[in-house]
Amino acid sequence: MKKKVAIITGASEGLGKAISIKLASKKYITVLASRDKKKLQNTSSDISKVNGEYFIIPTDVTSEKNVKTLFSKASKLGKIELLINNAGVGTFNKVEEIKLKEWKKMIDVNLTGSFLCSKEAIIIMKKQKYGHILFLNSLSGKRVLPWGSGYSASKYGLKGFADTIRLELRKFNIKVTSIYPGSIDSTWWDKMNVDFPRSKMLNLDDVVDVIYNSISYKGRTVIEEVDLRQVGGDF
Ligand SMILES: NC(=O)c1ccc[n+]([C@@H]2O[C@H](COP(=O)([O-])OP(=O)(O)OC[C@H]3O[C@@H](n4cnc5c(N)ncnc54)[C@H](OP(=O)(O)O)[C@@H]3O)[C@@H](O)[C@H]2O)c1
Repeated sequence: MKKKVAIITGASEGLGKAISIKLASKKYITVLASRDKKKLQNTSSDISKVNGEYFIIPTDVTSEKNVKTLFSKASKLGKIELLINNAGVGTFNKVEEIKLKEWKKMIDVNLTGSFLCSKEAIIIMKKQKYGHILFLNSLSGKRVLPWGSGYSASKYGLKGFADTIRLELRKFNIKVTSIYPGSIDSTWWDKMNVDFPRSKMLNLDDVVDVIYNSISYKGRTVIEEVDLRQVGGDF
């Protein structure tokens, strides 16, 4: 039997790193895809501790060439059962303060990167007659907050993209899941110039459990959407 392969973008830290370790512990060959090779090696060291399998392919998801190489190498490892579109960036500011470069980066990584990866995955998954594509969206892809215009634009776009391809892919037995979490206590917040209380955010391990559960139904059942927020409400 061919081994099952999971490709995780943004696997070098935060949620992508934690998901990769979980999937490796569940016998997926994990393909770790993001730009920072050193940080990807940190992820792989943790995967080794759970006796998991991994393959590092440094990838910028905004580069079509990089993404094509990623899928061509990954498809040699086994059956690509799962793509986790997790790589993401955010700049939060008043709209007139957002630089064009920052705006473009959010659209390029969060939306175009997911498009490029999904496109390559779909070509392979259609031939396999099975596959699962998961999108790390955000509550910002369903409701808006001041200062989040660029981030919400990218994540609302991602919702539109995921919802549309779900319809296109139903007849090919390819599942599409979108996860919409509120703030998660991850490395994301180390890069933000804000002092939001981390203790009030969603716990990283809980989010990983929800993601794992949402891809665990192997038959006809598919979890299409998950809204995740802390009990205190939107944050
Ligand atoms: N943290 C939250 O509060 C929160 C809440 C809701 C949704 N989310 C979503 O969850 C996802 C993961 O967030 P996180 O909290 O884990 O953030 P994080 O800790 O900042 O990690 C972001 C990841 O994205 C990767 N990345 C950035 N640009 C990339 C590119 N051009 N190509 C490939 N990889 C790239 C980074 O890797 P390299 O730098 O190595 O490329 C890194 O591994 C994102 O989509 C985010 O929008 C996060």
